[in-house]
Amino acid sequence: AVSVVELEALAAQASAASQGPRDATILFGSQTGNSQRLAGRLADKLKGQGFEVTLSAMNQYKTNNLKKAGYLFVLVSTHGEGDPPDNALTFYEFLHSKRAPKLDGTKFSVLALGDTSYEFFCKTGQDFDARLTELGAERIADRVDCDVDFEDAAAGWIAAVTGVLLAAAAPASAPQAAVIAADSLAAVQGESVYTRANPFMAEVLENLNLNGRGSDRETRHLELSLEGSGLSYEPGDAVGVYPQNDPALVDDIIAFLQWNPEDAVVTGKAGETSSLREALLHHYEITVLTKPLLEKAVAFSGSAKLAELVKPENKDSLRAYVSGRDVLDLLRDFEPWTLGSGDLANVLRKLPPRLYSIASSLNSHPDEVHLTIRKVEYEAHGRERKGVCSVYASERLEPGDKLPIFIQQNPNFKPPVNPDTPVIMVGPGTGVAPFRAFLEDREELGAAGKAWLLYGDRHFVTDFLYQTDWQRMLNDGVLTKLDVAFSRDTEEKVYVQQRMLENGRELYKWLEEGAHVYVCGDEKHMAHDVQAALLDIIGQHGGKSPEGAAAYLTELQEQGRYQRDVY
Ligand code: 2AM
Repeated sequence: AVSVVELEALAAQASAASQGPRDATILFGSQTGNSQRLAGRLADKLKGQGFEVTLSAMNQYKTNNLKKAGYLFVLVSTHGEGDPPDNALTFYEFLHSKRAPKLDGTKFSVLALGDTSYEFFCKTGQDFDARLTELGAERIADRVDCDVDFEDAAAGWIAAVTGVLLAAAAPASAPQAAVIAADSLAAVQGESVYTRANPFMAEVLENLNLNGRGSDRETRHLELSLEGSGLSYEPGDAVGVYPQNDPALVDDIIAFLQWNPEDAVVTGKAGETSSLREALLHHYEITVLTKPLLEKAVAFSGSAKLAELVKPENKDSLRAYVSGRDVLDLLRDFEPWTLGSGDLANVLRKLPPRLYSIASSLNSHPDEVHLTIRKVEYEAHGRERKGVCSVYASERLEPGDKLPIFIQQNPNFKPPVNPDTPVIMVGPGTGVAPFRAFLEDREELGAAGKAWLLYGDRHFVTDFLYQTDWQRMLNDGVLTKLDVAFSRDTEEKVYVQQRMLENGRELYKWLEEGAHVYVCGDEKHMAHDVQAALLDIIGQHGGKSPEGAAAYLTELQEQGRYQRDVY
């Protein structure tokens, strides 16, 4: 028999054991703001359950607190060739170095964001997951790898993690009422009713080609109305646009499969239906092939070639095959098909929104948002290929039309809080868009700080985007210095980074005066080369070794004085 006293002691022991840590550290690495937003959502949930929550960008986090973290949640995206986001870099390197502490007391889980059309899908999240295990931490919920339509998978992970913590916590300390209150509060405080999941139908006010006659490029300047939406934004934020697929491609697919375009198909979780043609125009991605798509398609194809291609040992051939091909290629290449229109939802990805950096300041254009969209067209595998959103905007969108949009806040690309702080802005091509927003805003604020814009494109005469705006800003003094690099006007190419190097002494002087540096545009080539130029300049004019220059730039990054919006 057990005495009452012993029973009580046992109960206390059991409750102490089931009572997990009461603190949670949530770290995010975010480039476009998605991981950050999801991290905020998890933080709200856990706070509602009485947890002590630390929420931080990875590069803002004091790593000597890591050992003390009871629960650790990592939300991180992957970019380009498997790279961590800018604000995850130093933490990523720290954790993978010998300096990383043993974490045997830590319980963790990872949410990874990515895109299955890239080879190193969710690599950064996978790396964190593996490394935390290696350091002795205990995984309390499986990592979830999200594709571009991340909302449901991310919500599932948040629910799983919250469930585990609730189960581990003592029942009395998780008042249900608090959870509900926190949830409804978030809904009330939520900026506008229009979100990624519920986009606003914005009227197109203007749609102009910014390139001159004879240019080999076409760049649209779209002006959209936000009237009645309750939406607002700040310089540096982006707009998510839900485009429509090319009707010609949709019709070719339907004709190839000999389907009836009027067939009703289910398009939403709640069982919403639309015609097959509408579904392919609005809901499904048909221009990109991914490994998961081929793996699903194999069940509906009688082609031995496709069965062979999806075998793990042929992953290189699969990668080569999907590159530059679309759903029509897939259908033509792997007949015969037993695919019915009802199977679409199980095979295709949802058409993801495209993000564009906002080119206007809400202060100068109340109730409007402007976008700069370059038309993407190229030839691959014997057919002309069209960028879904840019070609839609160029060829099929007219003033008066409505476009489904939402605002994507980007806390990682923000002008200095003090408008008198000098800014250096590097934005060739459409990368110049957010700097029109920055400068318009500084105009409205009467900013006294110096501002330097470095712009480049192919030809001065036809490709100088927003030239008259820059002219006005130079005249009114909000823009103090403008350097341009037109790459195809001269025998030898010149790029923005060359202008930076030519002005290296002055650029370094601006940095020493506290300037913020912003880079927007192409990630793979431009942003990489611009960073190399910055390091060169810091080394040369700051008298620093390569390591010293790198440390200087990392320091700038950590202070939010070197920010990039690259794609
Ligand atoms: P190019 O097309 O003549 O090579 C905007 O697209 C501008 O960026 C163009 O002038 C383009 O030049 C230029 N560009 C291309 N690669 C670049 C790089 N690595 N660094 C900077 N600018 C680049």
